Amino acid sequence: MSGTRTILITGGAGFIGSHVVRRFVTKYPQHRIINLDALTYAGNLENLRDVEHAPNYTFVKADIRDAEALKKIFAEHRPDGVIHLAAESHVDRSISDPMAFVTTNVIGTVTLLNAAREAWSGAFAGKRFYHVSTDEVYGSLHDGGFFTEETAYDPQSPYSASKAASDHFVRAYGNTYRLPFVLSNCSNNYGSHHFPEKLIPLMINNIRLRKPLPVYGKGENVRDWLWVEDHAAAIDVIFHQGADGGTYNIGGHNEWRNIDLVHLLCRIMDRKLGRSEGESAQLITYVTDRAGHDLRYAIDASKIERELGWRPSITFEEGLERTVDWYLANQAWLDHVTSGAYQQYYAAHYKAQ
Ligand code: NAD
Ligand code: TYD
Repeated sequence: MSGTRTILITGGAGFIGSHVVRRFVTKYPQHRIINLDALTYAGNLENLRDVEHAPNYTFVKADIRDAEALKKIFAEHRPDGVIHLAAESHVDRSISDPMAFVTTNVIGTVTLLNAAREAWSGAFAGKRFYHVSTDEVYGSLHDGGFFTEETAYDPQSPYSASKAASDHFVRAYGNTYRLPFVLSNCSNNYGSHHFPEKLIPLMINNIRLRKPLPVYGKGENVRDWLWVEDHAAAIDVIFHQGADGGTYNIGGHNEWRNIDLVHLLCRIMDRKLGRSEGESAQLITYVTDRAGHDLRYAIDASKIERELGWRPSITFEEGLERTVDWYLANQAWLDHVTSGAYQQYYAAHYKAQ
């Protein structure tokens, strides 16, 4: 697919969405990029300061659960492509407030599917609905092995159950109404502009402030980490070249036990902050485990590598260095997003620790 397109990106003010918006706005000046975001606690237009005045960029504040608003946006901007990232994305929040995940991730996605289907009204040539999902829909690995595109869904948290349901609806709309779609399931991302409720930015923030580093359980859970800009690059290639109705797993070939990762971050930050070796690691505090904590996620990304030629562009060590550098150079961003409501969330979630 090439030529001029109008692409509606949902959740573009969030962590991954802001990287996708930046990439598309700068790399494709011929495409019109509409960023639709409700600006929840996780959405932040500061993430897009560098592109907000680009002539091919428009921001629209709207909620994907609002059918009337979506109808108007589709009528006004006439997108021929949708890249859907808007979601509630934090597992811990899904444990304390599952309904928010049902309404945004499930009902919101179906509302968006309806808007696309009605606006495109069967004239599907050149249209594409790209649903961005997670490897967490596959559940938890216990005995080695990897998630492939054929792995059966087995979601274990309210977050992953809501994402799994949304994936099923996207495929059902493809099957029932012939809505042209593509879908990807990615492993854990890290990088700049990541809200510090997730492991890596939370640890970076706490290390800089010399606050306790809360490691759940024994820190033995394993995640497969991918640099967010490599995820944005994968989304780009899948959006433009992925097969209709296709699913692609995206991962970093990069498994880390949480405790090893936290130690690595401590070492990097001791060096960058001029602290003595081992100083930050003394902040590590083992806390009550997450309920139903998935043990291990690991992606087999051979399909996207083979079919679309994508692979991670940098090593984890290099990506983490760049990430830590960004947070240390943007401490005002961290201070801003961790003021106000973040303090209440933090106090409530880590209260027992
Ligand atoms: P995020 O929480 O940082 O951002 C989500 C964005 O969606 C925010 O800008 C928020 O304002 C917006 N949003 C939330 N509810 C909305 C609603 N009802 N209407 C409109 N906008 C709404 O999330 P993220 O980490 O950038 O994840 C983006 C997508 O990628 C999600 O669908 C997530 O499931 C998926 N994903 C994330 C990861 C990861 O490691 N973070 C990995 C794989 C897949
Ligand atoms: P997180 O970044 O929330 O991503 P996900 O749960 O979607 O994989 O957590 C990554 C891992 O880090 C996960 O095993 C839970 C763990 N974790 C902690 O040990 N302490 C923390 O404070 C947080 C937020 C996560």
